[in-house]
Amino acid sequence: MARRMGETNMQYDVLVIGSGAAGLTAALELAETKRVLVLAKGSLTGGSTAWAQGGIAAVLDAGDTFENHVRDTMVAGAGLNDRETVEFVIEGAPASIDRLCELGVPFNRDEDALHLTREGGHSHRRIVHVDDATGWAVQDALLKAAEANSNITMLGGRTCIDFITDRHREQFSAAGRVWGVYALNEETGRVERHTARATVLAAGGAGRVYQFSTAPRGATGDGIAMAWRAGARVSNMEMMQFHPTCLYNLEVKNFLITEAVRGEGGRLYHPETGHRFMEDYDPERMELAPRDVVARAIDDQIKRFGLDYVHLDISHESADFIRSHFPTIDEKLSGLGIDMTSGPIPVVPAQHYTCGGVVVDLHARTDLPGLWAAGEVTESGLHGANRLASNSLLECFVFGEAAASDILNRWDELQEPPAILPWDESRVTDSDEEVVIKQNWTEIRRFMWNYVGIVRTTKRLERAKNRIALLKQEVEDYYGAFRVTTDLIELRNLLQAAELIVKSALARHESRGLHYTLDYPETGELVKDTVLVP
Ligand code: FAD
Ligand code: SIN
Repeated sequence: MARRMGETNMQYDVLVIGSGAAGLTAALELAETKRVLVLAKGSLTGGSTAWAQGGIAAVLDAGDTFENHVRDTMVAGAGLNDRETVEFVIEGAPASIDRLCELGVPFNRDEDALHLTREGGHSHRRIVHVDDATGWAVQDALLKAAEANSNITMLGGRTCIDFITDRHREQFSAAGRVWGVYALNEETGRVERHTARATVLAAGGAGRVYQFSTAPRGATGDGIAMAWRAGARVSNMEMMQFHPTCLYNLEVKNFLITEAVRGEGGRLYHPETGHRFMEDYDPERMELAPRDVVARAIDDQIKRFGLDYVHLDISHESADFIRSHFPTIDEKLSGLGIDMTSGPIPVVPAQHYTCGGVVVDLHARTDLPGLWAAGEVTESGLHGANRLASNSLLECFVFGEAAASDILNRWDELQEPPAILPWDESRVTDSDEEVVIKQNWTEIRRFMWNYVGIVRTTKRLERAKNRIALLKQEVEDYYGAFRVTTDLIELRNLLQAAELIVKSALARHESRGLHYTLDYPETGELVKDTVLVP
């Protein structure tokens, strides 16, 4: 069989897929003794990490306790969390914050102590932050440290397609050991092989499966789909988090208004009657109820009254207070003609975070030998049925470290990669109908929003399932016939992620946390993860 020659076969000690908080945390720890290659799709700052606003949850105040944080996390997660994981992450927070301070992240301070803000679902002030642009400061510090480290090579513009496993060895083997990835070089259009003794998957979430999402363009579930295809279990994919307050604007579609605005006193109002409607849904916690409760309340108001948006208003605070706490949001809104210091902000819910993902244990090991995973791509047991605000960056740091430590501890057991077959392009040609990709992409995102959104029914889920089956056949035919492009790779993964979400949602016969269905409105007594086995 003719094979395309001339592609690169690069080898490092460890391969990391993703240059966000999870990937770079692992890379920095590994690079103390190993040569590490970090691959990223598009730009090195293209993941969700750079967009995070609110901050990082950590118990640092003397009046707060780990137990409080554990309880808040499990209340938000509707009991589906794994307590051992919750404790592991929460107790790891102070050390993670110390490391970020050492890397030079300029967290806001109150004299000597770090300033702590508050967010929904947290019983105490415990969110460490850099104004309202924490993610950018963290991403910048991690990237600078990685750039300065001669043991780390970072290559952007690489879209990973599939894991290289034992099946791709020159000496075929059916065992599922992972040896690296095939990745599309976005500039040359060639598919490269990158092999290593260990691979860390840190490719983020699948938010872009929904029409409205706060997640960046590249959050297409690539990592989850790749791991699933290679044989790893995924769990709790029905637990898709919708953030209550995304800016409603016809030009700017995915700008988040941080939860910290409500944490610092922002209130939600019906835009016509001025009614503070959270009184009707959660009179005790009001705007600071966990985000599934607030998002469902807003969705209900929008649907019941035929509204385009609701109002979020913090203008009762002084302009100085607002501008000093939320400079990024204030600047963005001013550019759009909205003055948050004197009036309300129009907001709608939007998909925000993928709670489900690739199953990992406390060492960040997946089911596949040779593959570790950390961050939003995983389901570690931390978030359960609903992530508590600002717990996800924290998870990236703690599990990024855990993956690195486990790889280093087990180094001597990890073999050198065997000879691997190159990518086979002998039966494909250049695509002649790019419109198929665009059409299918738009269709998936729209029906996922309408049928698999904040409030679900079995009938709508079945409709989505049927659509996915049809599209899957079409996309697989297309994938088999044409040379890969990033758009095609993403479409295939988006569809795979959609299928896993719908399958999981259909399997849960109760409402719990983020999964709310009119057909099973009660929460069942049995607390059980939805685990899908390939
Ligand atoms: P990401 O940062 O998303 O990085 C994924 C990486 O994988 C990227 O480098 C990407 O290029 C790469 N990648 C993906 N697919 C491929 C592929 N096929 N090939 C090669 N590379 C690939 N959490 C908090 O805790 N606090 C907050 O305040 C907060 N605010 C948020 C605000 C917004 C607007 C959003 C969208 C999320 C927010 N979150 C917040 C969630 C948090 O930002 C993410 O969960 C976290 O940053 C995920 O980090 P990660 O390292 O797992 O993945
Ligand atoms: C926000 O700032 O509201 C986002 C916090 C988070 O997603 O954890």
